[in-house]
Amino acid sequence: MKLLSPKEINKMTTQVNITDVAKKATVSQNTVIETTHLCREFGQGDTLVKALTDANITIERGEFTAIIGPSGSGKSTLLQLIGGLDNPSSGDVFLDNKNINHMTGNELSDFRRDHIGFIFQAYNLIPVLSAQENIEYIMLLQGVPATERNKRVDNLMHTLGLEGLGDRRPAELSGGQQQRVAVARAMVSKPSIILADEPTANLDSKTGADLLDMMKELNEKQNMTFVFSTHDPKIMERAKRIISLVDGCIVADERRS
Ligand SMILES: Nc1ncnc2c1ncn2[C@@H]1O[C@H](COP(=O)(O)OP(=O)(O)OP(=O)(O)O)[C@@H](O)[C@H]1O
Ligand SMILES: [Mg+2]
Repeated sequence: MKLLSPKEINKMTTQVNITDVAKKATVSQNTVIETTHLCREFGQGDTLVKALTDANITIERGEFTAIIGPSGSGKSTLLQLIGGLDNPSSGDVFLDNKNINHMTGNELSDFRRDHIGFIFQAYNLIPVLSAQENIEYIMLLQGVPATERNKRVDNLMHTLGLEGLGDRRPAELSGGQQQRVAVARAMVSKPSIILADEPTANLDSKTGADLLDMMKELNEKQNMTFVFSTHDPKIMERAKRIISLVDGCIVADERRS
């Protein structure tokens, strides 16, 4: 039997280690969102509210996850923490394996601009900009050329039934129309993660179903990751994973085929 030289042994071990490291990197590369022991409390003493308690969630790239639970169970709190819009009382949030607590303010806002689309209950549209300008705002920051910007805005406005409303300011739109502008704004820059707090809440059932179809298409064709809260049984039905919250605690987490 031929004995291996120390050099050959060294080479083999190095190869094994590299493979292990590569495997680990592949596994963690698929994790886009991770929360560990995430807690959020509001107030203190008699007025203490435990809005979220010890939430441990791992979300892989391309998941289509619904957060459900009664009013006050912590859905919005969880989405705000994941998006770095609120600070946890304890615990951590990792986005693309980076702890957002360790990012500087600029790093976090750059990350949000380039990777996350938000659709929140308060639509946060910029009041002095028209609907069209609100939708294309992030693409402007990203330096997307005008022809491409116009093409994407037109397509989304058509899909969301906003044609002809491009020049109106938010105050000149109904609640449902403002929500659709917020949806278009979140999706137009094709972020890898969309966080949506009850995205269909103010929409009629046809527009809500169209929006869900569009979300599913982006999820399936572009592997975009969606995390959204909902009370709507029709949306829950179509989620691939459902995380249930009760009183700030995760009580169930089921994946469906
Ligand atoms: N800024 C705040 N100050 C004090 N309490 C808060 C604050 N924000 C949320 N809470 C409380 O935290 C708990 C969770 O609220 P959260 O908004 O996350 O619930 P939710 O599941 O999104 O409810 P809904 O379905 O009504 O939107 C509630 O008891 C709420 O009153
Ligand atoms: Mg909420």
